[in-house]
Amino acid sequence: MKAPDLKATITAREDLTDSLALFRFDLEGGVPDFEPGQFLTLGLPHPEKEGKTLFRPYSISSPPERKEAMELYVRWAQRPVLGKFTTMLWKLGVGDSMSYKPPKGAFTIEHTKPDGSPENRRMVLIGGGTGIAPFVSFIGSLKKAGCQRQIVLCHGASYLPELGYRKEMLELAAESDADGHNNWDFHYLASISRPQEEANAGWDGHAGRVESLVIPDESGLSAAEQAAGEAFTPENTTFYICGFGGTVEAVRQAVESRGFCTKKEAREDGSYDIKFESYG
Ligand SMILES: Cc1cc2nc3c(=O)[nH]c(=O)nc-3n(C[C@H](O)[C@H](O)[C@H](O)COP(=O)(O)OP(=O)(O)OC[C@H]3O[C@@H](n4cnc5c(N)ncnc54)[C@H](O)[C@@H]3O)c2cc1C
Ligand SMILES: NC(=O)c1ccc[n+]([C@@H]2O[C@H](COP(=O)([O-])OP(=O)(O)OC[C@H]3O[C@@H](n4cnc5c(N)ncnc54)[C@H](OP(=O)(O)O)[C@@H]3O)[C@@H](O)[C@H]2O)c1
Repeated sequence: MKAPDLKATITAREDLTDSLALFRFDLEGGVPDFEPGQFLTLGLPHPEKEGKTLFRPYSISSPPERKEAMELYVRWAQRPVLGKFTTMLWKLGVGDSMSYKPPKGAFTIEHTKPDGSPENRRMVLIGGGTGIAPFVSFIGSLKKAGCQRQIVLCHGASYLPELGYRKEMLELAAESDADGHNNWDFHYLASISRPQEEANAGWDGHAGRVESLVIPDESGLSAAEQAAGEAFTPENTTFYICGFGGTVEAVRQAVESRGFCTKKEAREDGSYDIKFESYG
């Protein structure tokens, strides 16, 4: 017999804009063990099919070590038509419940190489929009574990208020700077893809979609490489990409020409350097 779905109750909701919000959930049975990068599947009564449940997956942004609540970073899909699930979710707040299925997914951190040796290469994490969510979980967990690998987080958004988790990421980068990048080597780069729009007035940081941060400029190095302090090669770097299919494709194009490859195109010894999760 199929196990009954468990109940997830909203305990906090923070709206960054009218279509972007952080939701924190209390999960029946407690926050289960999961791996950073996995997703939770939420269910609400199907708006068109009586008695059915409509399920949607959402990347978990909180680290697995946080047992008091699970956090998700969600966009209300409105174009070209209103998204079925998120339109219902947007009407809910603290105290409202829905069903959930336990975390799963393979977009997780590789700690060992296919030959079993430890993976020590830097991680370049590239998130478009809400695609930063799995990386916030990665980073929270790696920080707690005392990770010695260098981490370069690249986040892209259309508008400034859509740079979710910016304050936390700036704090983690400042902590790394203060430490001389010795025990915690973390760099955070953000890029705004519509810099000319009024809502982004005053932004003097990187401009362009997130992939522009890994494309070399006239110096021969990309902004991400400049932050890391050296050129990225398959010997020293791995990439994790989450976002629109277009973001994944653009980053892959930029780095595959430099010898990086995905698991599907793994080398003879099984090694590879790119993992991705796209929204289709
Ligand atoms: C592994 C994974 C993790 C994810 N993590 C997150 C996350 O962390 N945060 C997040 O916000 N989302 C995430 N998503 C996306 C999420 O699962 C949903 O797909 C998203 O919230 C939209 O669901 P919806 O039911 O509101 O929209 P849907 O009703 O499913 O519609 C989806 C899109 O299609 C469009 N559409 C619908 N019908 C039509 C039509 N007839 N013609 C043209 N266009 C149409 C809608 O306008 C909308 O843009 C994730 C997806 C996956 C696969
Ligand atoms: N794990 C997952 O699979 C996952 C995780 C999170 C979210 N999602 C889903 O993805 C959808 C969109 O995410 P979002 O709302 O977070 O994105 P968004 O805020 O609309 O866009 C984020 C960035 O991506 C750029 N972009 C838009 N379309 C693109 C394209 N086709 N190719 C390359 N870049 C593009 C935008 O640039 P411009 O300013 O130029 O448009 C912007 O800089 C949401 O509906 C969400 O449900 C899936």
